[in-house]
Amino acid sequence: MMTPMRYILLVLGVIISIHYIMSFTYEEYGKATFISNIAEKWTGPKSNPLYKIPVPDEYCKPDSPMHLQDRKANASIVVLVRNSELWGIMSSMKQLEDRFNRKFQYPYVFLNDEPFTQSFQDHIRALTNATVEFGLIPSDHWHQPSWIDEERASKSRDDMVKNDVIYGGRYRNMCRFNSGFFYRHELLQKYRYYWRVEPDIQLFCDVDYDPFLMMQDQKKVYGFTIAISEIPATIPTLWDVVKSFIDANPDSVTPGNAMEFLSDDGGESYSLCHFWSNFEIADLDFWRGEAYSKFFEYLDEQGGFYYERWGDAPVHSIGAALFAKKEQIHFFNDIGYQHDPFEHCPQGDVHTKGKCWCDPDESVDYQIYSCLDRYDKLFS
Ligand SMILES: *[C@@H]1O[C@H](CO)[C@@H](O)[C@H](O)[C@H]1NC(C)=O
Ligand SMILES: *[C@@H]1O[C@H](CO)[C@@H](O)[C@H](O)[C@H]1NC(C)=O
Repeated sequence: MMTPMRYILLVLGVIISIHYIMSFTYEEYGKATFISNIAEKWTGPKSNPLYKIPVPDEYCKPDSPMHLQDRKANASIVVLVRNSELWGIMSSMKQLEDRFNRKFQYPYVFLNDEPFTQSFQDHIRALTNATVEFGLIPSDHWHQPSWIDEERASKSRDDMVKNDVIYGGRYRNMCRFNSGFFYRHELLQKYRYYWRVEPDIQLFCDVDYDPFLMMQDQKKVYGFTIAISEIPATIPTLWDVVKSFIDANPDSVTPGNAMEFLSDDGGESYSLCHFWSNFEIADLDFWRGEAYSKFFEYLDEQGGFYYERWGDAPVHSIGAALFAKKEQIHFFNDIGYQHDPFEHCPQGDVHTKGKCWCDPDESVDYQIYSCLDRYDKLFS
């Protein structure tokens, strides 16, 4: 027989379980009830940080032709894309041109593991007056190296597909290329900063200032819009490899870094938090530098890009968090951005100022799988 107290606890347990199941199942429910939303109302917004300081006027460019002669950063927009993704990338690029690059005229570099068709190039060039270059990725920067045990690699892909891991069977070459090779492409050698753009994104707000110049002047190395949790099944051994790299190369880790974003226990275990790298505004020389280069080589030797499915998002994020100072990692709060299934939508004044058209309630910022609060805490 159940005592009344036990009965109450049981009912409470069931309600809490349903709450959690619902939070994960129904986004709307999650948003309406998510504990941190409620908590925030009680405690006020978390203290913070640099990104809440308005961007200085010097980075803004009034709509006057005279200002087109102004200072420019050493930067390019970088697009890795296939011929078959033409309409998706045109949609992204059109938005980027309209909201930002029409005024700033930064050049584009398009990369592909196959040659771009003439028709692809013509369609792209029609969207902009900025310089556009099309490059072919060298075969050894893209394809699976011969020392990878294909039997083991294909078993890993099959297992992930069987276990319904998202993209479990795909994108190995692309993740490795983005992690360790794109910044070595000959067309990018002449640039220092880049903005990574993918097909089918949405840019919700006007970007009326030059984020590249801001990065350059403030010596930032990595900029993001969305920070979320990684799927553990794609990186079972990554953190162990990171730890053994740190043990072997303690001097490469920068004092004042963002380890607390990655770990709650000083590096023993990984929080799974990473910056979502399908959007990046970052410093190519940082990836080209000694610390990250050594780090990438070390990871690559373990084969985890193929034996597991290490993504460029955790690899870049761990690199940025260990080898840069935390102040050098910037949250582009004012850039409203969507890449399915997540979006970052600026709130309040920032939304108004950017003339954004996204719904602020749809923003992933402080939802359960977001890591933005962890980034904020670095500066509190
Ligand atoms: C390129 O510049 C010309 C001359 O200023 C202008 O008429 C045209 O609309 C521009 N094209 C694009 C795609 O911005
Ligand atoms: C831009 O940056 C690259 C990489 O650091 C460098 O090689 C190049 O000389 C720079 N260009 C200018 C004009 O400063």
